Amino acid sequence: MSTENDFNEVITALAKKRGFFWGPSPEIYGGASGFYDLGPLGKLLKNRLEKIIRASFVKSNFWEIEAPTVSPEIVWDASGHLEGFMDPLVACEKCGQTYRADTLIESHPKGEALKGLSLEEMSEKIKELDIKCPSCDGTFGQVKEYNLMLKTHLGLDQVAYLRPETATTSYLLFKRLLTFFRRQLPIQVFQIGKAYRNEISPRQGMLRLREFTQVEGQIFLLEDDKDDWSDIKEIEDEKIPLVPYQTQEQGSVDVSNISVKQALEKGYFQNPAYAWCVYLAFKMFDDMGFDSDQIRLRQHLLNERAHYAADAWDIEVKTRSFGWVECCGVHDRGSYDLARHKKYSGERLHIKVNKKPVVPHVLEIAFGVERPLFCLMDNAYAKDEERVWLEFDPRISPIQVAVFPLLSKDKLEAPAREIYDDILESGLITQYDNGGSIGRRYRRQDEVGTPFCITIDFDTIEDGTVTIRERDSMEQVRVHRDKLVSTLKDLIQHQIKFSELE
Ligand code: GLY
Repeated sequence: MSTENDFNEVITALAKKRGFFWGPSPEIYGGASGFYDLGPLGKLLKNRLEKIIRASFVKSNFWEIEAPTVSPEIVWDASGHLEGFMDPLVACEKCGQTYRADTLIESHPKGEALKGLSLEEMSEKIKELDIKCPSCDGTFGQVKEYNLMLKTHLGLDQVAYLRPETATTSYLLFKRLLTFFRRQLPIQVFQIGKAYRNEISPRQGMLRLREFTQVEGQIFLLEDDKDDWSDIKEIEDEKIPLVPYQTQEQGSVDVSNISVKQALEKGYFQNPAYAWCVYLAFKMFDDMGFDSDQIRLRQHLLNERAHYAADAWDIEVKTRSFGWVECCGVHDRGSYDLARHKKYSGERLHIKVNKKPVVPHVLEIAFGVERPLFCLMDNAYAKDEERVWLEFDPRISPIQVAVFPLLSKDKLEAPAREIYDDILESGLITQYDNGGSIGRRYRRQDEVGTPFCITIDFDTIEDGTVTIRERDSMEQVRVHRDKLVSTLKDLIQHQIKFSELE
């Protein structure tokens, strides 16, 4: 089995060969780090993830909104991003190459658990661990801060920034939302849209993008209502894998698999509303098809939190390419954002409680879709002497069914086309393939993770049956074409197991 990072290359090579993603983009001009194109299968996979995410938000009573991706400077001054959205940067004194100081430290064997260090502490650690420039072995200077926002201009000279998060652009709408929701809190909205971060020389492919699609759900609520959150009853017995900050302070990342209720009793979550929000994010990752033992929820250390966060938990996913990867942040932003925008805009971004103005709090779920997309490919990769296949959950496979006539250009084509049309019309993403040997067609579909292949042969003409071949076991069963669509839907939705078909 490949080692870390070699594995990233394996996944990236497969992704490029089979049209999941290409880059850095634009490839024909040498590419700029941090930009990737999605090919047809990557786009299908991303659409499928976004569909699951949308369904999950809507089911939990969130409404989708959309805001511009560029905002004038005042917005980012008010949000605190101009001052606080920084990465620690360190430059090699010999070759001038720049790196993220925290990444350099954390990728050192003795630096793995070192999170949340101050700039001075990072400079000292780099010296103490004798970390040298990976390009030329030179020594590093002092760690400095670097703002991650991409700057632009509106018209000739109005300074503006591409949004580094969708969240702020949702907060700007608070007055409008208050009217739409007839002044009733909580207000729950989400955006799925582009965000931009001017990362310092990003080197982790699809994991560190300068332009990415962010998913962010926001709950505006009164501070007092955080303790009075009736939806918690529905999920309080559900178990979640937690690594609270107290555990990490003792030098461990051991997971406690405990119920939401126990986590609240132990004080890991400050209140039921936030616990519910963390669980909702966890459930979304579960719905996307991650194995529960590949996910953990890690609380940020006190000094690791973003400038707006009163509490923060990350969903981390275990990968073979990069170890544990941060995939989602769930933040209690307190009244920080609305209070700041109220001050900077002079608008009444509050509601009246007992005739007194109260600035609501915000809880948020935030992640880029490309990270789970990459991690799902990493987790799904399987290989033996004979073949490579992606073991996607059938619910997320970009192509759900492939249809093959056993032989092309003969009387099998017409029934195969009819069967293909039936499956396509049922809403399943289906590919028709009549090119090459049947074995090669199976291999092509295995490599893109298609869970079921249908073959139309001469028996189909005789008795109306077709074969369904399952990707993981490579087993085949015959099913009558009249029952094909309903059988495929049941298989994809896990209503039945393939082994139960015979
Ligand atoms: N809105 C929080 C984040 O971008 O991580």
